[in-house]
Amino acid sequence: MLELLVRNATLPDGRRGVGIAVNDGRIVEVREGLGLDASGVPAAREVLDAQGLLVSPPFVDAHFHMDATLSVGLPRVNASGTLLEGIALWGELKPQLTHEAIVERALAYCDWAVARGLLAIRSHVDVCDPRLLAVQALLEVKKRVAPYLDLQLVAFPQDGVLRAPGALENLERALAMGVDVVGGIPHFERTMDSGAESVRVLCEIAAEQGRLVDMHCDESDDPQSRHVETLAAETVRLGLHGRVTGSHLTSMHSMDNYYVSKLLPLMAEAQLNVVANPLINITLQGRHDTYPRRRGMTRVPEQLAAGLTVAFGHDCVMDPWYSLGSGDMLEVAAMGLHVAQMTSQAAMRQCFDAVTSAPARILHLEGYGLEAGCRADFVWLQARDPVEAIRLRATRLAVYRRGQRIASMPPATAALSLPGRPASVDFSLRR
Ligand code: FE2
Repeated sequence: MLELLVRNATLPDGRRGVGIAVNDGRIVEVREGLGLDASGVPAAREVLDAQGLLVSPPFVDAHFHMDATLSVGLPRVNASGTLLEGIALWGELKPQLTHEAIVERALAYCDWAVARGLLAIRSHVDVCDPRLLAVQALLEVKKRVAPYLDLQLVAFPQDGVLRAPGALENLERALAMGVDVVGGIPHFERTMDSGAESVRVLCEIAAEQGRLVDMHCDESDDPQSRHVETLAAETVRLGLHGRVTGSHLTSMHSMDNYYVSKLLPLMAEAQLNVVANPLINITLQGRHDTYPRRRGMTRVPEQLAAGLTVAFGHDCVMDPWYSLGSGDMLEVAAMGLHVAQMTSQAAMRQCFDAVTSAPARILHLEGYGLEAGCRADFVWLQARDPVEAIRLRATRLAVYRRGQRIASMPPATAALSLPGRPASVDFSLRR
């Protein structure tokens, strides 16, 4: 007997009337028509009738800061709204942090994430603290949430791996303690040269230790910032193709078009992954502009056209940099879609991919997807397709992990009291 049978699902690729059979936490069969014909329904302990609605692999966030999340207002709020005041504010908060408070806030955020169908998160963790308090706390959180959420940690030298005394040693200690990925922040080093040097040093550590790389890179409006070029060139030099991610890359928004026409093929040669963070970039970038005011998000459609894997990350939720957010990757996708003007049907579907399959590839997640052999992790959404899911920030009707239901939410509806109109309304277009 099957553990779970999902029947009459629509998949993100457009297949309809699909059945998904699950055993021992893995998908054993995915087929159109499976479970639709009553006589041919396989026996299962649980049957979920998806009612023709969308069943998607879970949301994945490729860029987050879980050590800072839900700390908004501690010790004060960011008055200017800039990246640099956010970094200064985080510096004020750091000495006041406790292990217990970080763990408690991170676990609370993971609860929100699961309720939203977000089951894998890559979080940067600040290593510029000789106590490595946040590292220890998030390693504990990683272990505690492992049954229901994949938490991948990046050793992130927030104050600059070369600029901050002891940061390189702390970063290597964090990796030895169990942090997964090598991080960096070259644009925050003192000079462009030392930023480039930091990229070289960090990529060499990753190559020696067989690790993935994910750097905050060129998170500025400076059209002359060139660290993504160095990151791509080091990736090629060290044979790290496909294993390196450039996060933010906002300077690309402001770069000269001719220079970008040379840069994009280099990024493609390196198979460099990109993470844009639309909610944060649209609020933090362009703060020194009057009008016209730059959007500041990296060049997502052009990067996709060059064959790069591009994800949208949440980056921040209720922290020194951003006081909004609730772990909803459909909100992230919607903002990315608008900022990048990705409004064609195909581009809107790419925005859905940017919070599901693309970040799963960037994290090198094992067994992700809705195919036989994959882990039985998925979300049932109150939407008929990915575009409608983004439009409605669709309700996550049910969230499954390894074939077990771990969250559910009633369908969104509203009662109406209008003469001659239906008694209730939902917001899907029925034809
Ligand atoms: Fe970030």
